[in-house]
Amino acid sequence: MQDFPKRFTITAALPYTNGPIHIGHLAGVYIPADIYSRFQRIQGKDVLFVCGSDEHGVPITLKAKKEGISPQEVVDKYHAIIKKSFQDFGISFDNYSRTTAKIHHETASDFFKKLNENGKFIEEITEQLYDTESKQFLADRFVIGTCPKCGYEESYGDQCENCGTSHNATDLINPKSVLSGNKPTLKKTKHWFLPLDQYEGWLREWILEGHRKDWKTNVYGQCKSWIDDGLRPRAVTRDLDWGIPVPAKGAEGKVLYVWFDAPIGYISATREWAKLEGKDWEPYWKDKDTKLIHFIGKDNIVFHCIIFPSMLKAEGNYILPDNVPANEFLNLEGNKISTSKNWAVWLNDYLEDFPNHQDVLRYVLTANAPETKDNDFTWIDFQARNNNELVAIFGNFINRVVVLTHKYYKGIIPEPSSISEFDKRVLKLTNIESISYSIEHFRFREALTTLMKVARKGNEYLAEEEPWKTIKTDKERTQTVIYVALQIASSLAILCEPFLPFTSEKLKKMLRFSDLDSVLTWNDIQTKTEFLPPGHKIGKGELLFSKIEDSQVQEQLDKLEATKRNHYFR
Ligand code: MF3
Ligand code: ZN
Repeated sequence: MQDFPKRFTITAALPYTNGPIHIGHLAGVYIPADIYSRFQRIQGKDVLFVCGSDEHGVPITLKAKKEGISPQEVVDKYHAIIKKSFQDFGISFDNYSRTTAKIHHETASDFFKKLNENGKFIEEITEQLYDTESKQFLADRFVIGTCPKCGYEESYGDQCENCGTSHNATDLINPKSVLSGNKPTLKKTKHWFLPLDQYEGWLREWILEGHRKDWKTNVYGQCKSWIDDGLRPRAVTRDLDWGIPVPAKGAEGKVLYVWFDAPIGYISATREWAKLEGKDWEPYWKDKDTKLIHFIGKDNIVFHCIIFPSMLKAEGNYILPDNVPANEFLNLEGNKISTSKNWAVWLNDYLEDFPNHQDVLRYVLTANAPETKDNDFTWIDFQARNNNELVAIFGNFINRVVVLTHKYYKGIIPEPSSISEFDKRVLKLTNIESISYSIEHFRFREALTTLMKVARKGNEYLAEEEPWKTIKTDKERTQTVIYVALQIASSLAILCEPFLPFTSEKLKKMLRFSDLDSVLTWNDIQTKTEFLPPGHKIGKGELLFSKIEDSQVQEQLDKLEATKRNHYFR
């Protein structure tokens, strides 16, 4: 068990570069992926965590039209903003790439060529939706119509946002051009199709039989329903002028379908990283001792569980995802988060209003993550979790321990007199096995609850032992109590790293971890009960969290009210 897997390739869905990112993105994809990656890394695992900007596809073209600039200008602008937001929030990618990068164009192009040469595609002239006014074929988000599966009237050409089904644009009932509003006509054009129907048997075996137990039920259920509905060939090329040119004869003016090129972006990001680091990229994608894990939102399930794996299978040399932990959606104050209606909390805005409060948002979004069902973010809950949990429990415990250590012992860890059975039990309460188990099973909320239990226990321990009283009556006992409390504080500094990396760093500094003889690791918590030896001097206390006032919450609610007044809400 210890040796498997040899390494992890962890991916987070490439965000579309047509706007900044918001709390829904963080909660659904990037925070869980980051917790998981940090958790594996601090155990000394070989981890590669990649992401990048998804810069092709219709959403970019539409945004460019709307803003009157070129698609390249759109992606340059948002790539920079998104990349900065990820850095600001401590999302610890080993590489954040982009799909307009040369290395990606090459990688995706070569991938297509190989499949094409090996006869993995069907080339076919078919009738596709066409807008005679805009003189353009209508695929994907250029066309909306009624979903053939659920009846939702504003389904996109390639996917219905309501039921998640992925279909062909010609399947839409009553299609309408997004460009002109006209009813499309049909026009003949040649495309390359991936015959998904031929992969059905294999997908059944691999997913429905092979991953029934370990994939999340929401993911497994969606896969099962698609496979049971019957899979059909999917076009992987488009008649568009923004994208990666199709490297084949007779494909002038055609580009790769964005959902063909984007997931290959994970591979390109790996190659780019390997080049920079002087490493070999291939084991991260081709060695069967590598665990490949895709973190995504629920609207991406079909692409990551059915289409991309079929592409990898067709290529022949690649490993397949071991797990695809997709989350449901996060709503905001009772309404669906919407970029176009500006109903969102944008990460760049958040940091302006709450500077240095990254961990607070990370905490709230993890505690309230839409792991098994859609969830709601509310500012009242945000405030309550900050004030009642981070400030009152975690922060308060650390503050008491640090202040008392300075007050009674000039900041030097006291020698414990005798450690009672009760103290021993308290020291063992870090619950690390349970936190690890939860993270390994993608139950991040549960892991965070357990972490907070440790802080809670620390608080209770101090409340019961009352060192501020015993200092006058029993000096020896007080030494032991402060010693024990400091050990709990240290384990918290280590345990909170995947969830609250900024807090962890602050706390480690406060406790002067850097002055210790050896670096404390996650695994130490399992084996040791002493992290800070008697005689070690800690630094000055500093507040880890601060109270969020009612007025700050009101300000956010007012902002949202204004958005409501400006936009029509259904
Ligand atoms: N850009 C897509 C979205 O935001 C996700 C692409 S994931 C990738 O829904 F696999 F294609 F990279
Ligand atoms: Zn639908």
